[in-house]
Amino acid sequence: MASYVRLALFLILLCSPFLVDAVNRDNFKRCDQSSFCRRCRKIEPGKTPYQLLPDTLIQNESMITIDLFNKDTGVSYVVQLTSLKESTFRLHINEKNPLHPRYENEYALHDQPQITKLDSVEKTTESITVVKGENKAILYVNPFKIDLYSQGVLIISANARGLMRFEHLRTKPVRSEQGENAEGAEINNNTYPGDGADSDPGAWEENFKEHHDAKPFGPEAVAMDFSFPGSEHAYGVPEHADSLALQSTKSTDPYRLYNLDVFEYETNERMALYGAIPVLYAHGKERSSGVFWHNTAETWIDILSSADNNVVESIVNFVSGSTKKSQVDAYFMSESGVIDVFFMLGPKPLDVFKQYTVLTGTAPLPQMFALGYHQSRWNYNDQDDVATIAESFDTHDLPLEAMWLDIEYADNKKYFTWDSRKFPNPLEMVHNLTGKGRKLVVIIDPHIKRDNNYFLHNDATSFGYYIKNRDGKDYEGWCWPGSSSYLDFFDPKVIEYYVGLYNLDKFHGTTNDVYIWNDMNEPSVFNGPEITALKDLVHHGGWEHRDVHNINGHMYIRATYEALFRRSGGSLRPFVLTRSFFAGSQRYATMWTGDNMADWNHLRISYPMCLSVAISGMSFCGADVGGFFKNPDSELFIRWYQAGAWLPFFRQHSHIETKRREPWTFNEETTQIVREALRLRYSYLPLWYTLFREHEVNGLPVIRPLWAHYPLESEAFTIDDHLLLGDSLLVRPVFQSGATEVAVYFPGENKVTWYDIDTMQPYQKTGYIKIPVTIHKIPVFQRSGSIVPRKMRIRRSTVAMKNDPYTLIIIADSNGKASGNLYIDDETSFEYRHGKYLYVRITLDSNKITSTLIDKLASYETQSWLERIDVANPPQGIKSAQLESHSMGRVTLETTYNPHNNVLTIRKPAVNMGEEWTIELLH
Ligand SMILES: *[C@@H]1O[C@H](CO)[C@@H](O)[C@H](O)[C@H]1NC(C)=O
Ligand SMILES: *[C@@H]1O[C@H](CO)[C@@H](O)[C@H](O)[C@H]1NC(C)=O
Ligand SMILES: *[C@@H]1O[C@H](CO)[C@@H](O)[C@H](O)[C@H]1NC(C)=O
Repeated sequence: MASYVRLALFLILLCSPFLVDAVNRDNFKRCDQSSFCRRCRKIEPGKTPYQLLPDTLIQNESMITIDLFNKDTGVSYVVQLTSLKESTFRLHINEKNPLHPRYENEYALHDQPQITKLDSVEKTTESITVVKGENKAILYVNPFKIDLYSQGVLIISANARGLMRFEHLRTKPVRSEQGENAEGAEINNNTYPGDGADSDPGAWEENFKEHHDAKPFGPEAVAMDFSFPGSEHAYGVPEHADSLALQSTKSTDPYRLYNLDVFEYETNERMALYGAIPVLYAHGKERSSGVFWHNTAETWIDILSSADNNVVESIVNFVSGSTKKSQVDAYFMSESGVIDVFFMLGPKPLDVFKQYTVLTGTAPLPQMFALGYHQSRWNYNDQDDVATIAESFDTHDLPLEAMWLDIEYADNKKYFTWDSRKFPNPLEMVHNLTGKGRKLVVIIDPHIKRDNNYFLHNDATSFGYYIKNRDGKDYEGWCWPGSSSYLDFFDPKVIEYYVGLYNLDKFHGTTNDVYIWNDMNEPSVFNGPEITALKDLVHHGGWEHRDVHNINGHMYIRATYEALFRRSGGSLRPFVLTRSFFAGSQRYATMWTGDNMADWNHLRISYPMCLSVAISGMSFCGADVGGFFKNPDSELFIRWYQAGAWLPFFRQHSHIETKRREPWTFNEETTQIVREALRLRYSYLPLWYTLFREHEVNGLPVIRPLWAHYPLESEAFTIDDHLLLGDSLLVRPVFQSGATEVAVYFPGENKVTWYDIDTMQPYQKTGYIKIPVTIHKIPVFQRSGSIVPRKMRIRRSTVAMKNDPYTLIIIADSNGKASGNLYIDDETSFEYRHGKYLYVRITLDSNKITSTLIDKLASYETQSWLERIDVANPPQGIKSAQLESHSMGRVTLETTYNPHNNVLTIRKPAVNMGEEWTIELLH
């Protein structure tokens, strides 16, 4: 959903007639317009005022605690370094005696991080060395710096460049007689020169455009630099409409994390967007590592690339023994909070991704329907419109899981109500959809219409559930319903109340088959600074909005997830779509990339955007198919479906002023090609589902950049227009108009062969090969040595396909081996958490295909059976096959060999998927 479209368009037109269809940059701050970013960014490297006080060292089994002193200000801090499981250290720094508590977030981590015992702590006058297994941290006393080693190699260095800043809380300076120099009382009282914070004009109050920020607590920024010797690229810190590999910010603004509703955002930009995940990965041929900057306030991140570092020798020299190596540096700057950072030491990309999800959790397995195709529009006008569209999917033989309703369904944007003129029988509408195995998803936004006839507004007002202004009155902003207030999801009472709103007897017209879309949860405030809430608003517990802004949307979806969970008595898996998110949001919701545009750049950027959130814990990502703003032509529309079919969340959505664009609205050829893309997606749902289950268990992203599996291939480090689905499929969409070929990078250093999924043509050369394309397909390949499960009977929806048989696609490697997994359960409930599932390992080895249960204690009675096996690159001269299983005994199976594509097909093994079996290939 857009920001205040008409007002924004009007303003854009007013300001400059040439800027239509472009973001209005003036609405959003640059670093030099933000006091704390200015203060942090002007620090010169190599002059840190911080030093440790070794005499204060205390330690116990898993952590050390030691004081840190700022010799410029005389302020003392407490440093804690904790050893955690999975090659992770946690560094925590806070003021020793803060004037009042500083904000520490407790909602991003999924649990208390698990500590491990330290092996040893050694102290000298210069340093303290903390050892845990093959990892160690050396804390240098003066100047303060922390070096993290693994296997004897320096992996990460913190404060190596000396850019650390920790602005202590202070009392507001009394202005001197002249009123010019705001010299602080505190500064006058001691002999320290201070940290210079007070001299910034925005230190104690700040204005942006017509908005005033009272800043009652003054400057309180925290910042720290991290160097990654040996790394060639940095990744992460979503959400930005930019390349996956982060770019140098040497001559641009830093990357910004501040959840914002950016109207008509542009691509290749470091501007803030709707979500923020402050995790950064560094990768080079030798190592992968990462830092998770656990801070929920506005954050900017400067990046120095390897190329910058080769030029600026002096900076490299701050890091011990790394002059000859490539290196990336990052500098995190946050407006408030404390320094709380997790160092994840790898060594491989998949290790670091896992280490991050060990901290923030994984996504719970979604219902199968969530992985199918979704149809949305702002707006389907009324219940007849919904019925007609859903029916048209059947008449056009197109699968569909859910119809979606945007804000116009509710009575005057009063959520939890229906517009009774357009939707007089919502329950009947829902039943008509569910009767065909489909769902309804409706939007619920966090802004509450200030209307005395609205129960929710009256409740929230009388119970005091709204976020407050500084003066304690309910905050009022402008959003879709007009004058609005915002529920405070940091208050447990508000969460309880909100969860209750979803009870089926409270939210009339809904059933357990109605799922929820949370939009505008940055929060979007049309008349607020940067289209969001004022920073000096007050949340539950007295915390300023400044402290918690980036996790505001997360708190909202957390409550919605809980509501859907409880609504079904804990039996059905919730589905929530969110626009705003923070670290850990994968535990509650699916995200999409917001209000994109119907142009090729936005189609292209959907891949790096989703890859970036996927490696940051949130695999369940998609982009509005077709582009939200403007109208795609049929070619862009087709290419978007073909690319979208390989992103985890697959939904068409469009702006209210666009033309209708359901798959049949262009021409017969377009409908046919879209149908092929949808059918291809559905045929691979068993693989998607298996990967989502594996993500839940092991934290690995479902979609992955090439370097995740091919960490030594430098050429692949910056590729972000390809993706790997799991480790078995390589996808390279068409992102250009009129393409007749695309350059596909085949990773694997000649040890891997990639097979076109349609033709089974093999490609072995490592590096780029030009692959011809027509409008009918994009290049997708399956890796040699892999086994992929599919379902080839495509029906109206996943509900109808649940008991359908499976097909296995096996590609034998050069040794005649292959393997793959398949996960099966009831596709909807939490019964799988009580052992009701099948997790199957399928292997090909020595002419024998074997299916074994990985989790022997789990069981699930499936009606699905094995329909067919295709073996590419099979052993030569196979004449027949013999199946053996407990229930079927020995059965001889028919095989056919196709010499044109070198594929052996085994028809109708007909064994139930819940059984263990072997099939021997016979000469
Ligand atoms: C170590 O000390 C810290 C801080 O005093 C405490 O929170 C933690 O529980 C202690 N851990 C152990 C294993 O005693
Ligand atoms: C500084 O000194 C003044 C005058 O003695 C006193 O009122 C004030 O509280 C002191 N401020 C601090 C921060 O100690
Ligand atoms: C539900 O389906 C029936 C039968 O097709 C139809 O008559 C009715 O209008 C539908 N109701 C709604 C609200 O779509």
